[in-house]
Amino acid sequence: TLFFLITGLDAELSYVRNDVVNHYALSFNLLIPSETNNLHFSWHAKSKVEYKLGFQVDNPMAMAMPQANISLQGEVPRTLSVFRVELSCAGRLDSEVTILMQLNLTINSSKNITVLNFKRRKMCYKKLEPEVKPPTSDKNSIDPVNAAPTTSTRVFYISVGVCCAVIFLVAIILAVLHLHSMKRIELDDSISDSSSSQGLSQPSTQTTQYLRADTPNNATPVTSYPTLRIEKNDLKSVTIMEAKAKVKDIAISRERITLKDVLQEGTFGRIFHGILIEEKDPSKEKQVFVKTVKDQASEVQVTMMLTESCKLRGLHHRNLLPITHVCIEEGEKPMVLLPYMNWGNLKLFLRQCKLVEANNPQAISQQDLVHMAIQIACGMSYLARREVIHKDLAARNCVIDDALQVKITDNALSRDLFPMDYHCLGDNENRPVRWMALESLVNNEFSSASDVWAFGVTLWELMTLGQTPYVDIDPFEMAAYLKDGYRIAQPINCPDELFAVMACCWALDPEERPKFQQLVQCLTEFHAALGAYV
Ligand SMILES: *[C@@H]1O[C@H](CO)[C@@H](O)[C@H](O)[C@H]1NC(C)=O
Ligand SMILES: *[C@@H]1O[C@H](CO)[C@@H](O)[C@H](O)[C@H]1NC(C)=O
Ligand SMILES: *[C@@H]1O[C@H](CO)[C@@H](O)[C@H](O)[C@H]1NC(C)=O
Repeated sequence: TLFFLITGLDAELSYVRNDVVNHYALSFNLLIPSETNNLHFSWHAKSKVEYKLGFQVDNPMAMAMPQANISLQGEVPRTLSVFRVELSCAGRLDSEVTILMQLNLTINSSKNITVLNFKRRKMCYKKLEPEVKPPTSDKNSIDPVNAAPTTSTRVFYISVGVCCAVIFLVAIILAVLHLHSMKRIELDDSISDSSSSQGLSQPSTQTTQYLRADTPNNATPVTSYPTLRIEKNDLKSVTIMEAKAKVKDIAISRERITLKDVLQEGTFGRIFHGILIEEKDPSKEKQVFVKTVKDQASEVQVTMMLTESCKLRGLHHRNLLPITHVCIEEGEKPMVLLPYMNWGNLKLFLRQCKLVEANNPQAISQQDLVHMAIQIACGMSYLARREVIHKDLAARNCVIDDALQVKITDNALSRDLFPMDYHCLGDNENRPVRWMALESLVNNEFSSASDVWAFGVTLWELMTLGQTPYVDIDPFEMAAYLKDGYRIAQPINCPDELFAVMACCWALDPEERPKFQQLVQCLTEFHAALGAYV
């Protein structure tokens, strides 16, 4: 039973895509906090779109007709503009009011009208009455605030109780590609993944939404996490000799390693499938991943590979894949060894699934994907407990085997093997910008909460089978984009409950994000619910 998440989520999307109205998104009937009197909508169109705006309230005694600060009829502006809708309670009685805002759009003066209905609910109270009574109206949708106590023991939930105000970006694409009679228009191009995703809008900065994960039992407000001792800034000061010295204790001789196929190759790095011969019994072999560099690799790159490989060193968890050995013999390029996982890199695996999916939709089920997410959350939960911050959680830094076992690994060589996922923002650091929490991007602050953010993006990668998040956004614009409240869109076919989980990982305030333990719990319930339907 997953009823709770989306009802309380303000990270709502309201859109039309390919000229098809997403009735689901529009059918949302969101509760507006009673102290909020203004809603803001931003919008724009790429070509001529006429609109008509209308309002309805179901209880005019409790609320006067809403007022917009734009005319009720006109043309959608060509530049991004904001309009405001005022929802003021009359103060005459206590009641929940349902508000309907209707926006009729006409494209290029054609006869077809696209009708968008935005529904909101708001509690209105009688003025000068200190005690407020709960609403008496009989609503079939759950009031997230009131519903919470009954469910909080089982799962975490999101409440909009503290939401100040709501800005919804009307992220609308009217891509009328298939209607040849019409010119292509776009209302708002701020959508991240036009290939297969829908527009998502989120409240923006001045109206930050507070997605609250309620944790009565394990709410330990961790505000600062010790960072792992592999600061990129430190790398410059680490010489290759020091890096080698640090891994001496796990060094093995080159003779024990046989290199087989190249699994991945970058400009200077390579990952091989290798065989490691047991030291005590040479007849026994173990399969391994071997990360190594080519001849042209610089000393800095080699140092970086060695230090980054040690990120998870010494940690033991079934969902972690730490380094086991190195080979740093004179005259040889250093090698880093990790246990083998026969389906290899998770991102490449997901992309493979996507290709296969075209012919075979059953290739990988949603339940499988959620199960992978749970495993990643378990591994991360362990890291968080050990106060280790990964700083680069992403599908590319996970591996998978034929039992669909997923393990998180370090990010050594990832910059080289997945160059599209890292960007330099003026400084010399090549960072996974699209996976980074705002505070990491802007202030270089990392914590388990910023790992939670990256987990949300990883979950999105799983559900999109390895698409690149924020693909249309200039990496330089990412911080501003996130600040403005934009996030990646809900993947097609991604259940709302699951998207709600992602979305709350992307709360601006790190403390508002769920903890990994909660994510494990929530995803596990969701996984069970999926199983129940099959
Ligand atoms: C929008 O169109 C519908 C159907 O044509 C109509 O009933 C409704 O009154 C229109 N709303 C506005 C605000 O013009
Ligand atoms: C409506 O109000 C919003 C916010 O208060 C403001 O940004 C916008 O410019 C106003 N629009 C018009 C047409 O007055
Ligand atoms: C108007 O909509 C109808 C069905 O809703 C569709 O068959 C027709 O092609 C549309 N007309 C234009 C000009 O797009």
